[in-house]
Amino acid sequence: MEARTSKVSVIGAGAVGATLAYAGLMRGFARTVALYDIDTAKVEAEALDLAQGIQFMPEAKVIGSSDVGVCADSDVIVITAGAKQQPGQSRLELAEATIGLMDKIIPPLIEVSPHAIYILVTNPVDVVTYAALKASGMSPSQMFGSGTVLDSSRLRHQVAVECGVAVSNVHAYIAGEHGDSEVALWSSATIGGVPLLEWHDASGKVVMTKDVRERMHRDVLQSAYKIIEGKGATNYAIGVAGARIVEAVLQDQNRVLPVSTLIDYPGVGEICMSLPAVIGRSGVKHRVDVPLDAAESAALDASARSIREVADRFGA
Ligand code: 2OP
Repeated sequence: MEARTSKVSVIGAGAVGATLAYAGLMRGFARTVALYDIDTAKVEAEALDLAQGIQFMPEAKVIGSSDVGVCADSDVIVITAGAKQQPGQSRLELAEATIGLMDKIIPPLIEVSPHAIYILVTNPVDVVTYAALKASGMSPSQMFGSGTVLDSSRLRHQVAVECGVAVSNVHAYIAGEHGDSEVALWSSATIGGVPLLEWHDASGKVVMTKDVRERMHRDVLQSAYKIIEGKGATNYAIGVAGARIVEAVLQDQNRVLPVSTLIDYPGVGEICMSLPAVIGRSGVKHRVDVPLDAAESAALDASARSIREVADRFGA
């Protein structure tokens, strides 16, 4: 019997989709990678360009088409298609265009790949994931959003630079909305087992003061705006972050990642938002109970309300 090999389909061959496919191929995340986009010339060109680099990557087959059949029998489907965020525009302003788009894109995908794990990247990712879940009737473990995985990686990068340690030794999460109301969970953050808030430099000076934390949070929040202003889109960090989420699923890694999942938020109701969760072959296995201090709790409440408000406005 032929060995079962994995297939990942990336929906949307724009900057994010193409980079995610590239990052995943470089890491060898699947044996077959399919790109699907309504723009035939673009999707075929991206697939060809990627395929011609396979000699220098882990072996894989790359296919691209504007026919949804290219995504048949996928193990994981990553949805990146959507409206492009313009300089100065917030993610939430994209809601109307992208929620409508999901209604069109998702049903045919489910028809060809009913058992895939679905990962939404399209912004505003929390509202889009919620709308997609409701419209598709899929289980929240099988369909979730990339959420604040990217924001957490942005925060970890800043902390690593400030504290002079490797980023892989920083454990810190951004939770809540992937957007302007997101919350840095400082109180549970650690470096090498030391609480982040107690981390000091060689002279004994505490590094992560309130001022430093506020500056970092501001910088994380402004990152996407700054990158979009400078080059029109963000693609590398989200591409590699997305590829790592896919890998956590396909390799059943039980990796703790702050993905956007369905939650019945007390006092707010149902929304999708990010909190650390264990990700493996069945998708979201369970949420991790991260301890929160009072300020983080209040900020998460506000973030949940802000996601609900936008969802209400667009009937999601
Ligand atoms: C990002 O944060 C725009 O959501 C995208 O890079």
